[in-house]
Amino acid sequence: MSGSIKLASNENPWGPSPKAVRAIRSELLNLHRYPDASCFYLVNALARKAGVDPAEVVLGNGSNEIIDFLVKAFVREKDEVITSHPSFLMYQKFVQIRGGINYVVPMRDMHHDLGVIREMVSDRTRLIFIDNPNNPTGTTIQPVDLYQFLSDIPETIIVVLDEAYIDFAEKQQRVDVFSLIRNNAGRCPVVFLRTFSKAYGLAGLRIGYALMAREIASCLQKVRPPFNINQMAQVGALAALGDEEYYERTLARTQAGLLYLSREVEGLGCKSYPSQANFFLIDVRGNADKLYNSLLTKGVIVRSMSAYGFETFIRVTVGTEEENKRFIKSLAESLAELRGR
Ligand SMILES: Cc1ncc(COP(=O)(O)O)c(C=O)c1O
Repeated sequence: MSGSIKLASNENPWGPSPKAVRAIRSELLNLHRYPDASCFYLVNALARKAGVDPAEVVLGNGSNEIIDFLVKAFVREKDEVITSHPSFLMYQKFVQIRGGINYVVPMRDMHHDLGVIREMVSDRTRLIFIDNPNNPTGTTIQPVDLYQFLSDIPETIIVVLDEAYIDFAEKQQRVDVFSLIRNNAGRCPVVFLRTFSKAYGLAGLRIGYALMAREIASCLQKVRPPFNINQMAQVGALAALGDEEYYERTLARTQAGLLYLSREVEGLGCKSYPSQANFFLIDVRGNADKLYNSLLTKGVIVRSMSAYGFETFIRVTVGTEEENKRFIKSLAESLAELRGR
């Protein structure tokens, strides 16, 4: 339907950074050349920003591709990988493709159940994926609990902390990347996944990155195709990274949007769940699939959580002010229809 609004994929609704657009425009006349395979400028800028070495940075065609690299590099048939349910579904998909075995730990009260994840570890476990903030709940793990958990995981297992939404989270929710990458004597190595698809507004360019110890990075470099990051993505991401004003504005607007949306949905008799990301869960206290379909007829696309086993939940991404208002108006109408009023 033309004129639809999409609040389903946790994208940045305010368009890309103008600096990224300018950088891409001025690169267009170089399209006849292959991209820089080493991604020199972007890798160095990311390393500087994170306070790590360039050899500790790996780029992917979206952070999605780095999940694939990790599984390709470290998971053989019958090896075990631990994930949570619900969480980002691609972890399990890539493991299945490689013939690995997924152990899926149900979340407890919308949070990763770190105690049970620890208990699931066996001598066949290779990777543990933890999205923090979690998609779809938007919850984070308290840093003190995360440090404790990591110190309990054996050195032979890599813990992947997927921080696709960390740029939206409160500062006190963030963990110290440098010390977790460098000081891993006696405990598991940690890989951080990040993306330009969310707060940095470049989902269409497909660019993500990961930070990790250089020994792990060199394993991933072996499975990384040489030109996986196109030239537009390299220059666009570099410019977006330097656009603090865009990032700060995105953050402020997202927080304002979350506040507005959660207040309004509560006013409509739904329950909203607090989130550290740019989306949140709503218990609509009715059939989520029916509500999803009803919203769809009004040109409003959200995500029904029924496929995750949450029959009465939808996940909604913060949109522009106008989109948020339209969502609330449509939600009120759809709820009235479904409640038979
Ligand atoms: C938790 C999480 N990780 C990773 C990704 C992949 O992001 P991308 O491949 O766009 O970098 C997403 C996308 O929605 C996500 O929600």
